[in-house]
Amino acid sequence: MASPTTSHSSAPPDHDPAAAARSVAIIMDGNGRWAAARSLPVAEGHREGARALRRTVEAAIDLGVDSLAVYAFSTENWSRPPDEVESIMELMDETIDRELPDLARQGVRTRFFGRRDRVPALLRDKMATLEVETAANERLHLWIAFDYGGRAELVEAARRVVEDGLEVEDVSEEALAARLFAPELPDPDLVIRTSGEQRVSNFLLWQSAYAEFVFTDTLWPDFGEDELRAALDEYARRGRRFGAR
Ligand code: IPE
Ligand code: IPE
Ligand code: MG
Repeated sequence: MASPTTSHSSAPPDHDPAAAARSVAIIMDGNGRWAAARSLPVAEGHREGARALRRTVEAAIDLGVDSLAVYAFSTENWSRPPDEVESIMELMDETIDRELPDLARQGVRTRFFGRRDRVPALLRDKMATLEVETAANERLHLWIAFDYGGRAELVEAARRVVEDGLEVEDVSEEALAARLFAPELPDPDLVIRTSGEQRVSNFLLWQSAYAEFVFTDTLWPDFGEDELRAALDEYARRGRRFGAR
């Protein structure tokens, strides 16, 4: 999309501040509080959260989003009670079986990013299978951050730089970016966090350098098309500068 001719900004043309957000990331937070408010087990909150994910992906397609990255499980979430961690692993498994194939039929390409060495082997295989099965889909790129942490990602990228034997002068932003968990993941234009918390919690530390942030009090299981549309509208009112005058 072209920049307005009146703009003196040196921002790249695809970051026209008046343009719609094409790359969106969501910190899907508030499942526990949603369940607690209903005296339900926390697993029910996560289950309802999976439904919200499906709704939101479908809304994102309708609203012209190209890339949607969602934070499903962090490197720190392993510290939760074992029952809860187990329920999240099971739910991811079920989501791959029940929700994601439907989304695939709607043209969604799904990829997972994060550490793969700690996820149960069967789940890891399912993730890989879904990635292969949806590889040709182009309508929306869904990126699911699972056992993901921004710091772990940067440590891993640094290790790869060393393993690849780069010379000091070849260590650049491009060299690091090419060694992230998902080098093809576009930098988010917009990061949304639900549940009223206003923090980044180790999500996309590198990629969100110039992202716009929208925080909403809505708990993730209650999120859907209206909330996504509101966040995109808020984004459209922002002026991005990328450090330029
Ligand atoms: C987000 O909801 C889902 C994960 C972190 C896996 P939470 O489970 O963090 O919900 P709250 O923050 O406790 O309400
Ligand atoms: C961030 O939420 C991780 C996910 C949404 C998967 P958390 O609930 O884990 O983050 P904190 O503990 O509130 O910072
Ligand atoms: Mg939380």
